Amino acid sequence: MTATTASAEPTRRDFLYIATATAGAAALAASVWPLVSQMNPDQSTIAAGAPIEVDLTPVAEGQVIKVFWRGKPIFIDHRTPKEIKEARDVDWHTLPDPQSDEARVKEGHDQWLILIGICTHLGCIPLAHQGDYDGWFCPCHGSQYDTAGRIRRGPAPANLALPPYAFLSDTKIRIG
Ligand code: FES
Repeated sequence: MTATTASAEPTRRDFLYIATATAGAAALAASVWPLVSQMNPDQSTIAAGAPIEVDLTPVAEGQVIKVFWRGKPIFIDHRTPKEIKEARDVDWHTLPDPQSDEARVKEGHDQWLILIGICTHLGCIPLAHQGDYDGWFCPCHGSQYDTAGRIRRGPAPANLALPPYAFLSDTKIRIG
């Protein structure tokens, strides 16, 4: 019945913290962050692994929001054309964990990058829009991911993982 919020980067404005809440439940916002409540199963059901649905309408281009699914932070990144171009201009065959940008998004929804927000090194939560690749930076040991969430530098051995998800419409996804 309660909303779930977390704070990983309290000085950044481009993070929204999204609560997953039951219908009619009050949502709690982390101090300065805008909040978007979601109509979803109750917390115990979600914790047990139920899928969650997320409305993408409030997520402006260039913004990243965070939701929780199965207790894990999920980053939802509304990428700009520049970020998509940067992700696609690189020769992905040369990357530490080779994967094309196209393989990490859903066709026709290339602007939406959906990631499990857990560093593949030792599990810290990376920060968005930081690092040399303007993607994700893990403050724990300095791993840097690009705008496709691919590891580019640092000790992390693999790209940020992708959760199972599907588009229900152009503006709504189901995770899980
Ligand atoms: S946990 Fe992210 S770099 Fe070590």
